[in-house]
Amino acid sequence: NGIRVYDPGFMNTAAIKSRITYIDGDAGELRHRGYPIEQLAERSTYLETAYLLIYGHLPDASQSKIWEYEVMHHTFLSEDLTSLLRSMRYDSHPMSIFITAFSSLSAYHPEANPSLAGQNLYTTSPELLNKQVIRALGKSSTIAALSLRIRMNRPAIAPRADLTYTENLLYMMDALSPADPYRPDPRLAKALDTLFILHADHEMNCSTAAMVHVGSSRVDPYSAIAAAASALYGPLHGGANEAVIRMLQRIGSVDRVPAFLEGVKKKKELLFGFGHRVYRNTDPRSTIIRKVAEEVFSILGRDPDGLIEIAQALRDAALKDPYFVERKLYPNVDYWSGLIYKTMGFPLDFFPVLFAVPRVSGWLAHWKQNLEEGTGKIWRPRQVYVGEGRRDYVELGERE
Ligand code: CMC
Repeated sequence: NGIRVYDPGFMNTAAIKSRITYIDGDAGELRHRGYPIEQLAERSTYLETAYLLIYGHLPDASQSKIWEYEVMHHTFLSEDLTSLLRSMRYDSHPMSIFITAFSSLSAYHPEANPSLAGQNLYTTSPELLNKQVIRALGKSSTIAALSLRIRMNRPAIAPRADLTYTENLLYMMDALSPADPYRPDPRLAKALDTLFILHADHEMNCSTAAMVHVGSSRVDPYSAIAAAASALYGPLHGGANEAVIRMLQRIGSVDRVPAFLEGVKKKKELLFGFGHRVYRNTDPRSTIIRKVAEEVFSILGRDPDGLIEIAQALRDAALKDPYFVERKLYPNVDYWSGLIYKTMGFPLDFFPVLFAVPRVSGWLAHWKQNLEEGTGKIWRPRQVYVGEGRRDYVELGERE
């Protein structure tokens, strides 16, 4: 109707109607398909939560068994894809490898792109859709583990379908228990699984919006996941867990916290792991994460390089400071997750991959929802043009 709303950064624009995730930013509440995140974190598993997000209900016993079997039996990567990823530099950022892997899966599975042949098969063939969902979930963990093995210049470890999703991921990374050299510590696998539940979905965040946006062109889901993963890579989004640790290392000691905060207030730098577009009170995931952190620290030892002490001092000082209080800035999910991953011994640049692997489930849930319940319209925002008016071309020699 000609009315256009200028909303830079989509601060107030709802692009979809969704049944997946509910957030009340003022109350600090997060629910998936109606279930509070606190209950899912305590009682569900990552794969079950992924099913819930994607299919809208908790699986019954038989659905659960089939689902786990199928995802775990789609964890294998082809030799071709493995060698392609191995040809990347050993010090490539693991997120670059993750993004490359997903964009390549589009080439390895051309049947995932039926729209190129003019057919919108995803709306009529649940089998085709489910196949891509299972494959993307299964392979994302193996791609993640391989990105780490490439860094270590070690051979890939084949997945084991008899382990749980997170146990298998730790197994493929060779993060095994000293007590049982063939199996990861079940307590650490459980901690990682809880972190994966917390990261599985978060409604229309930057990467999920990218997934749905790119998916609206009806390209295959692997290409759309590559786009979503690229959005997640940035330090304002999933890259923040890596950026938090680098920030704590830069600060270096508790006595330098006040000077750092002065720099933040002068807008010289950001306090990574603080602030959120939707939560203006507390991020419920960060409350749960603190408990997971305590569990992991009690298993693996606490704070060998003093970063937790700095993180606590920084958080306490920021929560008391009027600059952060007035702007309603609180620790978000990334503030503590990086410290957990560091204690688990992962290299810093691997942290965003540990965000991306579980978020694949949220991306797929939204992609599927938009195919099945969306308007079918391609996403195509408008703009407010503020450039030059009409003018005539000037030949090169006549330009001033
Ligand atoms: N450090 C310092 N100042 C901040 C921060 C921060 N982390 N976050 C927001 N502000 C300031 C911002 O400069 C602005 O100040 P002013 O009113 O003087 O202009 C005010 O607070 C409002 O912030 P905003 O930029 O309008 O907030 P936003 O909703 O556009 O941005 C955010 C949200 C998460 C990108 C931002 O808070 C941020 O950059 N945080 C640091 C990066 C980070 O931790 N990201 C992870 C987010 S949670 C998980 C995920 O989604 O990946």
